[in-house]
Amino acid sequence: MKHSISAILFDENEIQTRISDLASQISKDYESKNLVIICILKGSFVFLADMIRWFTIPVKIDFMAISSYGNRTESSGEVTIKKDIDIDIKGKDVLILDDIVDTGISMTFLFDHLKKYRPNSIRSCALLVKQKPRLREIKIDYKGFEIEDDFVIGYGLDYAEKFRNLPYIGILKEEIYRNE
Ligand code: PRP
Repeated sequence: MKHSISAILFDENEIQTRISDLASQISKDYESKNLVIICILKGSFVFLADMIRWFTIPVKIDFMAISSYGNRTESSGEVTIKKDIDIDIKGKDVLILDDIVDTGISMTFLFDHLKKYRPNSIRSCALLVKQKPRLREIKIDYKGFEIEDDFVIGYGLDYAEKFRNLPYIGILKEEIYRNE
Protein backbone atom coordinates (compact mmCIF):
# COMPACT_ATOMS: atom_id res chain seq x y z
CA MET A 1 0.00 0.00 0.00
CA LYS A 2 2.97 2.33 0.59
CA HIS A 3 3.39 2.91 -3.16
CA SER A 4 -0.01 4.71 -3.15
CA ILE A 5 1.20 7.31 -0.66
CA SER A 6 3.27 10.40 -1.42
CA ALA A 7 4.02 11.24 2.23
CA ILE A 8 3.22 10.16 5.77
CA LEU A 9 1.59 13.11 7.57
CA PHE A 10 1.21 11.66 11.06
CA ASP A 11 2.65 8.38 12.30
CA GLU A 12 1.18 6.13 14.98
CA ASN A 13 3.04 7.81 17.86
CA GLU A 14 2.07 11.33 16.83
CA ILE A 15 -1.57 10.27 16.51
CA GLN A 16 -1.67 8.57 19.93
CA THR A 17 0.02 11.51 21.66
CA ARG A 18 -2.44 13.99 20.17
CA ILE A 19 -5.46 11.79 20.91
CA SER A 20 -4.46 11.28 24.54
CA ASP A 21 -4.16 15.09 24.95
CA LEU A 22 -7.59 15.59 23.39
CA ALA A 23 -9.11 12.89 25.59
CA SER A 24 -7.72 14.40 28.77
CA GLN A 25 -9.06 17.86 27.79
CA ILE A 26 -12.48 16.38 27.00
CA SER A 27 -12.48 14.38 30.26
CA LYS A 28 -11.88 17.63 32.19
CA ASP A 29 -14.51 19.60 30.29
CA TYR A 30 -17.21 16.92 30.72
CA GLU A 31 -16.37 15.83 34.27
CA SER A 32 -19.79 16.68 35.76
CA LYS A 33 -21.82 16.19 32.55
CA ASN A 34 -23.64 13.39 30.75
CA LEU A 35 -21.35 12.85 27.80
CA VAL A 36 -22.63 10.99 24.77
CA ILE A 37 -20.13 10.54 21.94
CA ILE A 38 -21.61 10.15 18.50
CA CYS A 39 -19.13 8.52 16.18
CA ILE A 40 -19.64 9.24 12.49
CA LEU A 41 -19.13 6.12 10.42
CA LYS A 42 -17.35 4.88 8.70
CA GLY A 43 -14.17 6.94 8.85
CA SER A 44 -14.13 7.63 12.61
CA PHE A 45 -14.23 4.09 13.99
CA VAL A 46 -10.46 3.88 14.55
CA PHE A 47 -10.33 7.36 16.11
CA LEU A 48 -13.19 6.47 18.47
CA ALA A 49 -11.66 3.15 19.50
CA ASP A 50 -8.38 4.80 20.45
CA MET A 51 -9.90 7.95 21.95
CA ILE A 52 -12.33 6.31 24.40
CA ARG A 53 -9.58 4.28 26.01
CA TRP A 54 -7.93 7.51 27.21
CA PHE A 55 -11.10 8.88 28.84
CA THR A 56 -11.23 9.16 32.62
CA ILE A 57 -14.99 9.86 32.79
CA PRO A 58 -18.06 7.72 32.04
CA VAL A 59 -19.24 8.01 28.45
CA LYS A 60 -22.06 6.62 26.34
CA ILE A 61 -21.38 5.86 22.70
CA ASP A 62 -23.60 5.80 19.66
CA PHE A 63 -23.06 5.77 15.91
CA MET A 64 -24.38 7.55 12.87
CA ALA A 65 -23.59 6.62 9.31
CA ILE A 66 -23.74 9.35 6.69
CA SER A 67 -22.28 9.73 3.27
CA SER A 68 -21.65 12.54 0.86
CA TYR A 69 -18.58 11.38 -1.04
CA GLY A 70 -19.39 7.95 -2.43
CA ASN A 71 -16.31 6.72 -4.23
CA ARG A 72 -15.22 10.14 -5.37
CA THR A 73 -12.73 12.62 -3.92
CA GLU A 74 -15.02 15.68 -3.96
CA SER A 75 -18.10 16.15 -1.77
CA SER A 76 -21.36 15.87 -3.65
CA GLY A 77 -22.81 18.44 -1.24
CA GLU A 78 -25.72 16.19 -0.37
CA VAL A 79 -25.66 14.31 2.91
CA THR A 80 -27.56 11.07 3.28
CA ILE A 81 -28.31 9.41 6.62
CA LYS A 82 -27.65 5.71 6.36
CA LYS A 83 -28.01 5.07 10.10
CA ASP A 84 -29.36 7.37 12.80
CA ILE A 85 -28.61 7.27 16.54
CA ASP A 86 -30.37 4.68 18.73
CA ILE A 87 -30.02 6.17 22.21
CA ASP A 88 -32.04 9.08 23.58
CA ILE A 89 -29.85 12.20 23.75
CA LYS A 90 -32.51 14.57 25.13
CA GLY A 91 -30.88 16.64 27.90
CA LYS A 92 -27.50 14.97 27.31
CA ASP A 93 -24.17 16.55 26.34
CA VAL A 94 -23.35 15.41 22.85
CA LEU A 95 -19.92 15.36 21.27
CA ILE A 96 -19.84 14.59 17.56
CA LEU A 97 -16.68 12.70 16.66
CA ASP A 98 -15.63 12.80 13.03
CA ASP A 99 -12.38 11.86 11.34
CA ILE A 100 -12.11 14.89 9.07
CA VAL A 101 -13.76 18.24 8.38
CA ASP A 102 -13.30 19.42 4.82
CA THR A 103 -16.13 21.52 3.34
CA GLY A 104 -17.99 21.55 6.70
CA ILE A 105 -21.14 20.22 5.00
CA SER A 106 -21.27 16.98 7.02
CA MET A 107 -20.66 18.61 10.42
CA THR A 108 -23.22 21.37 9.75
CA PHE A 109 -25.76 18.75 8.72
CA LEU A 110 -25.05 16.68 11.85
CA PHE A 111 -25.50 19.68 14.17
CA ASP A 112 -28.81 20.58 12.55
CA HIS A 113 -30.00 17.00 12.65
CA LEU A 114 -29.00 16.21 16.25
CA LYS A 115 -30.41 19.50 17.60
CA LYS A 116 -33.87 18.14 16.79
CA TYR A 117 -33.45 15.57 19.59
CA ARG A 118 -33.03 18.45 22.10
CA PRO A 119 -29.71 17.59 23.75
CA ASN A 120 -28.42 19.88 26.51
CA SER A 121 -25.35 20.77 24.43
CA ILE A 122 -23.62 19.78 21.21
CA ARG A 123 -19.93 20.17 20.41
CA SER A 124 -17.71 18.86 17.66
CA CYS A 125 -14.43 16.99 17.63
CA ALA A 126 -12.46 16.19 14.48
CA LEU A 127 -9.13 14.45 14.21
CA LEU A 128 -8.24 16.35 11.03
CA VAL A 129 -9.42 19.82 10.02
CA LYS A 130 -8.56 21.18 6.60
CA GLN A 131 -7.24 24.74 6.63
CA LYS A 132 -9.23 26.25 3.82
CA PRO A 133 -12.34 28.36 3.33
CA ARG A 134 -15.32 26.14 4.05
CA LEU A 135 -18.61 25.93 2.18
CA ARG A 136 -20.28 25.86 5.62
CA GLU A 137 -18.67 27.78 8.47
CA ILE A 138 -18.75 25.56 11.54
CA LYS A 139 -16.89 25.74 14.84
CA ILE A 140 -14.79 22.70 15.63
CA ASP A 141 -14.45 22.61 19.41
CA TYR A 142 -11.75 19.94 19.61
CA LYS A 143 -9.23 19.62 16.76
CA GLY A 144 -6.60 16.92 16.40
CA PHE A 145 -4.50 18.34 13.59
CA GLU A 146 -4.93 21.10 11.01
CA ILE A 147 -3.89 19.98 7.54
CA GLU A 148 -3.47 21.30 4.00
CA ASP A 149 -6.01 20.54 1.30
CA ASP A 150 -4.59 17.11 0.36
CA PHE A 151 -6.43 13.83 -0.10
CA VAL A 152 -5.60 11.94 3.08
CA ILE A 153 -6.03 8.26 3.81
CA GLY A 154 -5.36 5.78 6.59
CA TYR A 155 -6.34 5.51 10.26
CA GLY A 156 -9.99 5.02 9.22
CA LEU A 157 -9.96 7.34 6.20
CA ASP A 158 -10.49 5.74 2.82
CA TYR A 159 -10.22 6.18 -0.88
CA ALA A 160 -12.92 4.04 -2.57
CA GLU A 161 -13.22 2.03 0.69
CA LYS A 162 -9.51 1.11 0.69
CA PHE A 163 -6.65 2.16 2.99
CA ARG A 164 -8.77 2.49 6.19
CA ASN A 165 -6.50 -0.05 7.89
CA LEU A 166 -3.25 1.92 7.53
CA PRO A 167 -1.97 2.66 11.06
CA TYR A 168 -0.76 6.15 10.01
CA ILE A 169 -2.28 9.07 8.07
CA GLY A 170 -0.79 9.65 4.63
CA ILE A 171 -1.35 11.67 1.47
CA LEU A 172 -2.79 9.71 -1.45
CA LYS A 173 -0.75 10.08 -4.65
CA GLU A 174 -2.63 12.18 -7.17
CA GLU A 175 -2.09 9.63 -9.94
CA ILE A 176 -4.27 7.14 -8.00
CA TYR A 177 -7.42 9.30 -8.28
CA ARG A 178 -6.51 11.63 -11.20
CA ASN A 179 -8.31 9.52 -13.81
CA GLU A 180 -11.54 8.89 -11.89
C1 PRP B 1 -16.01 11.98 5.21
C2 PRP B 1 -15.66 12.21 6.67
C3 PRP B 1 -16.62 13.29 7.11
C4 PRP B 1 -16.90 14.06 5.84
C5 PRP B 1 -16.19 15.37 5.90
O1 PRP B 1 -17.04 11.03 5.13
O2 PRP B 1 -15.77 11.06 7.44
O3 PRP B 1 -17.80 12.75 7.65
O4 PRP B 1 -16.44 13.25 4.75
O5 PRP B 1 -16.31 16.12 4.71
P1 PRP B 1 -17.07 17.51 4.60
O6 PRP B 1 -16.56 18.42 5.69
O7 PRP B 1 -16.66 18.01 3.23
O8 PRP B 1 -18.55 17.27 4.68
P2 PRP B 1 -17.39 10.14 3.82
O9 PRP B 1 -18.63 10.69 3.17
O10 PRP B 1 -16.17 10.05 2.97
O11 PRP B 1 -17.77 8.74 4.41
P3 PRP B 1 -16.90 7.65 5.21
O12 PRP B 1 -16.55 8.25 6.57
O13 PRP B 1 -17.84 6.50 5.34
O14 PRP B 1 -15.66 7.31 4.42
